[in-house]
Amino acid sequence: MNKQWWMDEIVYQIYPKSFHDSNHDGIGDIPGIIEKLDYLKDLGVTMLWICPVYNSPMDDNGYDISDYEDIYPAFGTMDDMNKLFEKAQEKGIKIIMDLVINHTSDEHPWFQEALANPDSPYRQYYIFKEGKNGNPPTNWRSVFGGSVWQKVPNEDNMYYFHAFSKKQPDLNWENPQMRHDIYEMINRWFDKGISGFRVDAINFIKKDQRFEDGIPDGADGLVSCFDYCRNIQGIDKFYDELKKETFAKHDCMTVSEAVGVGYDRIDECIGDKGCFTMMFDFNYTNIDVINEDYFRPTNWTIKEYRDAIYLSQEEIQKIGWSAPFLENHDQPRSINKLIKDPQYYQLGAKTLATMFLMLRGTPFIYQGQELGMLNFHRQSVEEFDDLNAHSQYHRAIEEGFDEKQALAFLNQRSRDNARTPMPWNKEQYGGFSTHQPWIEMTDGYETFNAQDQITDPDSILEYYKRLINIRKNQYHDILTYGEFISLPLNDHIVSYIRAYENKKIAILCNLSSSNQTYELDNIDHVICNNIHDYTPGLLKPYQALILYLKK
Ligand code: GLC
Ligand code: CA
Repeated sequence: MNKQWWMDEIVYQIYPKSFHDSNHDGIGDIPGIIEKLDYLKDLGVTMLWICPVYNSPMDDNGYDISDYEDIYPAFGTMDDMNKLFEKAQEKGIKIIMDLVINHTSDEHPWFQEALANPDSPYRQYYIFKEGKNGNPPTNWRSVFGGSVWQKVPNEDNMYYFHAFSKKQPDLNWENPQMRHDIYEMINRWFDKGISGFRVDAINFIKKDQRFEDGIPDGADGLVSCFDYCRNIQGIDKFYDELKKETFAKHDCMTVSEAVGVGYDRIDECIGDKGCFTMMFDFNYTNIDVINEDYFRPTNWTIKEYRDAIYLSQEEIQKIGWSAPFLENHDQPRSINKLIKDPQYYQLGAKTLATMFLMLRGTPFIYQGQELGMLNFHRQSVEEFDDLNAHSQYHRAIEEGFDEKQALAFLNQRSRDNARTPMPWNKEQYGGFSTHQPWIEMTDGYETFNAQDQITDPDSILEYYKRLINIRKNQYHDILTYGEFISLPLNDHIVSYIRAYENKKIAILCNLSSSNQTYELDNIDHVICNNIHDYTPGLLKPYQALILYLKK
């Protein structure tokens, strides 16, 4: 692949509501991000992905947009946003925004008009359909539970489609006028000087136009909508046009949220023919659950996880570029998910960081991950904010689990785990705010906050800085442009090689709590080690090594 500027980026994802609260109302905001730019610069990241800050009724925390060209008042103003662009640029930090164009909020003026007036052209901006025999048009289950169809008030037998919540009606991508309006909006954001977009749920924009029932797969009598509105054949036509009318006109970076895309079809997403410059691959991220249902955990093994990473890296390498990540605002904390032995959480955070930051692709770090943040432990379902937590709880009960088990699934998997405020110091509310935050903090910030870690050379934060420096500066070419080569050594070790010209680096991460041996005879020297011991051929529990190999 030709070298591109976006291969060099180290991205940091910000969830604005929980990053930093500058005016002490309990809600993070844009001026709060500006105040923390030095922290981000010091960490070594080069780009920020800012989760949605657009105006929104916040049913799904901003992924329900009511105005694409205005800012949610609690987050600040467009002036604040412009100031953030300017200040970040001064520090050499680029910004990508979230682009949510599969759906809008039901409070978006287009949808309001579509509801108020069935003859309005805006009715064609969304998907309205008549019911069948007193039932909704199909038996598909929405991502957040319940039917994808919501009855239109004051009309007989009329429904609108929503793949996510009922306050997130899907846009009708079959309508060229709607697409045109979206493209213009996107181009206006580019004119403001942003570097690109993370493109939300984009593989949902094409629906199976047959609108046929499926075989129920749950106690609710519905069938997951994934087979009917995600990665549907023909979506590439929409991707091609979207690219041509927007992204291709700008020297930008775009990353698609591509859950469930088969490797046989990633060429629609990335590479020369694909729509985006890179993609998030969830095939190994969601190793712990089946079909994204929290109440269907798997018994994954380290070998399966390693092999899933190998497959992802190898398949993406054939076509284009990837965007490795351990966490985001929809995932639990990676330590809880991937480190099986709680005794090793601290060390394991460094192991995971080593494993993921050296992969081929542009790495994305989620806020708090660099501090080793953990999941929380809530006592009741009422303490959860996320609408999906409530839906998953409800479905777990419906599927026959008791309340205790249903709650345990949420504590393990809920998206709220990643959405608690950033702990900046050990003061009340972690220095995030002086006001009670919109969501309860994760316990333990007295010991894992940013301030304490900055002054501790052995901290997880300092280790992240070291890894970023290795990737970005010390071994930039090998770790950025180098080929990915899988190196199976031992079923408990995730190990691989990055090779560039005639230079090679091996990454070895023991994901188990016992000693593991390996055979590798061409080691030149150790670049990085997450503990202080080194015995060739041996990895202590959760030890991670970056090794320079002989030619
Ligand atoms: C994406 C977002 C998620 C949101 C959903 C609907 O998956 O990452 O947070 O709920 O799309 O927009
Ligand atoms: Ca605030």
